[in-house]
Amino acid sequence: METPLFEVADVFERGVGETTDIVEKELFRLAPRSDDRESWALRPEATAGIVRAFIQHGLQTWPQPVKVSLVGPMFRYDRPQAGRYRQFWQWDVEAVGDPGPAVDAELVELGLRFYRDAGLADVEVLLNSIGDTTCRPAYVARLTAYYRSIAAELPDLERRRLETNPLRLLDSKDPSMGNVNLDAPKIADHLCEACAAHFEAVRAHLDALGIGYRIEPSLVRGLDYYTRTAFEFYRRGAEGQQQALGGGGRYDGLVELLGGHPTPGIGFALGIDRVILALEETGTPLVAEPAPIAVVCGAEPTGTTERLRVATILRGEGLAVRAELAHRKLGRQLEAAVKEGAQFAVILGDELAEGLVQLRDLQAASQKAVPLADLPALLRRKSGERAAR
Ligand code: HAM
Repeated sequence: METPLFEVADVFERGVGETTDIVEKELFRLAPRSDDRESWALRPEATAGIVRAFIQHGLQTWPQPVKVSLVGPMFRYDRPQAGRYRQFWQWDVEAVGDPGPAVDAELVELGLRFYRDAGLADVEVLLNSIGDTTCRPAYVARLTAYYRSIAAELPDLERRRLETNPLRLLDSKDPSMGNVNLDAPKIADHLCEACAAHFEAVRAHLDALGIGYRIEPSLVRGLDYYTRTAFEFYRRGAEGQQQALGGGGRYDGLVELLGGHPTPGIGFALGIDRVILALEETGTPLVAEPAPIAVVCGAEPTGTTERLRVATILRGEGLAVRAELAHRKLGRQLEAAVKEGAQFAVILGDELAEGLVQLRDLQAASQKAVPLADLPALLRRKSGERAAR
């Protein structure tokens, strides 16, 4: 799904939550035109917009769950620093319409698989349950009472936040909160029966998949829409504020909050910039784009009409092919194709008039005449063999 880069600010304010950092401090608001009564903002994250679209376009009538993903830029107004940018990229994945618990584990596995495939082996998942509307209010009341009892020890910012969003004190950035939070009541000890059973079942599914996780009682996430399962991905040993490689969780109340029928949902977003930073830090090469299966070359340096025409035929057959469009000698064309990692050169010459081309295997340095008509099937087979290797 592609959602707009900007929406009516209300989607984010209501979706993400008025008192979250993302809305309170980091929302990029667009200056209104004098005749515009609506207020607009750049999207700070994808979930609220996806859920808005889910409702607006009647996706609740599709077979459930509706699974969507989105890759794109997000915007948060914050002090830029390593790993924290005002424009950054997320890969966002959502499954709307599935109450879990199996899909919760499925998504955690998917996130971890992405990191592994990208070359980051040592990524750990931190897991928590933050309850739901049945059990969380009582827990929040207990937590508020705890913080009020030690209000004098709290930093100013946290004392103010206590009145608007007490859960956020648990993952406060203030170092002096470390000890205070050690003694704070833990949500895991105050889950209702249904939430506790759900959490246990999520863990059982992860266990069955052989996925290690760490239960992190202070993990509450910075967005208000979460219920039950919450998780974050970190590189082992790199768990600072700017270092979450991704995070997500369940949001069983969000569709209803934004005006739809009650529908459960869960998703995550991975920070692509941070993944790239981590790859650089660990000296892991980025996964290279696959080389074309063939480059269409020609004996006549200026014969680009034919080269482009043959490449277009092959691309029309779904093959990844480059046409050599520079006016250079055949030897140079072939050198470039080898350098690029192409497996074949299709060489056009006089025999094209009889429907024949030369197919050169660039690695074996062997060559044979092939009817142009047979070329797509032949290259498709070779492409398949290469993909299987
Ligand atoms: P989030 O934890 O706010 O969650 O962001 C997800 C990831 O985006 C972070 O873990 C981080 O890697 C990356 N990220 C966040 N802010 C920045 C920044 N300023 N610069 C670079 N990277 C950043 C969400 O956005 C939720 N929408 C995730 C979700 C989807 N929950 C359910 N579905």
